[in-house]
Amino acid sequence: MALITKAVKGTQDILPSEVYKNQFIEQIVIDIAGKFGFRELRIPVFEHTELFQRGVGETTDVVQKEMYTFDDKGGRSITLRPEGTAGVARAFLEHGLFNEALPQKLCYVINCYRYEKPQAGRWREFQQFGVEMLGTASPAADAEVISLANEIFAFLGIENLQLELNSIGCPECRKNYHNALREYFESKKENLCPTCLERLGKNPMRILDCKSPICKEICEGAPAIIDYICDDCSRHFESVKKYLDAMNISYVVNPRIVRGLDYYTRTVFEFVSNQIGAQGTVCGGGRYDGLVEELGGPHTPSLGFAMGTGRLLMLLEAQGIELPKPDACEIYIAPMGENATVEAMRLVSELRSNGISAQTDVAGRSLKAQMKYADKIGARYTMVLGDNEIEQGKANLKNMDNGEITEAELENLGEDFMEFIIRKQTEALQQSLGDDAGSFDWSSIINNN
Ligand code: HAM
Repeated sequence: MALITKAVKGTQDILPSEVYKNQFIEQIVIDIAGKFGFRELRIPVFEHTELFQRGVGETTDVVQKEMYTFDDKGGRSITLRPEGTAGVARAFLEHGLFNEALPQKLCYVINCYRYEKPQAGRWREFQQFGVEMLGTASPAADAEVISLANEIFAFLGIENLQLELNSIGCPECRKNYHNALREYFESKKENLCPTCLERLGKNPMRILDCKSPICKEICEGAPAIIDYICDDCSRHFESVKKYLDAMNISYVVNPRIVRGLDYYTRTVFEFVSNQIGAQGTVCGGGRYDGLVEELGGPHTPSLGFAMGTGRLLMLLEAQGIELPKPDACEIYIAPMGENATVEAMRLVSELRSNGISAQTDVAGRSLKAQMKYADKIGARYTMVLGDNEIEQGKANLKNMDNGEITEAELENLGEDFMEFIIRKQTEALQQSLGDDAGSFDWSSIINNN
């Protein structure tokens, strides 16, 4: 297929028939995070390349292999954000948010760009919802942030997601660990990939998240960080677990989690599913106590997570969870002739001012073609409008689900139709609740609103 009619590898279109799912997720994650006190922050799609080199780390796969980097026309090296944390930390510094109430609780829904090998659940352009809590070292914050991710999964009705937890210590305890790792990998040196050989000298921990199958196999026998963490880090980790237990959040400690980005310290975690293929990590995060300082700011212990919307949607589908579909069209008015078209335009405009989604013919179609169209777009009600209807000031409203006809006055249709659908919804609700609902006066609620 010609290049111009094919989306770039690793990118995807989200069609109108599907986009409601993304819209729903985007809305509820921000709402739920809001209940925890997180406020949305919008950051640029691109940043100075150096931010990611310093923040995410020179020896990470993301920086070494996956960034979309280019020189802009002013000669600056620019990178499309591969993740959100570095940009949030930069904005936190740039706008002096460290002078405001701490911890700062920030959240975002962003598209990210990584030149990875595309496969199910892995794209080169993907969306993340993320939260960052900056300015607290307390283990209670770790549990709070994890509980927010947990709350989102629970709200969506997702089950069988495993929370895996680890501590990767602080720069102090990592020194001993690096020595142990170096000793181990030195003995396997001849089989490591060229990138990992380079990492061996600079940052041996990065070998642990190499994607090459041979390196992966070698890593299985490597020493685990959890055996090397210092007393302070160990106490911190114990407290995080205690708080999670108190909140009834189950987890397993997985000493193999190190995460692929250099800024992490102490607690790291992932929510993993075995229902969506090899890319089973739906959400990942942890502490990054040194990042803000690394970027030139004050010491600001912080933490956060990000979850990929695409993987979340795959998981919802795998578990048969349907998200609510908005009504595309509440009422379609089908005019016959010029006079009726004028009246139909007036009516849809009045209906929309009353908050109703209403459509009419804008393609000069026959009545038959209009009814076909109304059916295709899923109109809940239709109304045919001809000269007779206009003369009498009345027209039939047809329920497209059950064929029921109701006569409606054209004058004041906007308000009347709104009342009509509320009454219908109330009746349906009463019916679904059974006989008991009969004693409750629903109309009082509706009238009060
Ligand atoms: P990450 O683990 O690199 O962490 O990404 C977080 C989530 O983004 C993953 O768990 C996955 O759901 C999604 N994701 C990552 N790469 C792809 C991809 N190529 N295609 C589809 N989805 C993907 C971070 O980005 C950190 N900034 C998270 C964080 C925030 N840590 C602390 N605060």
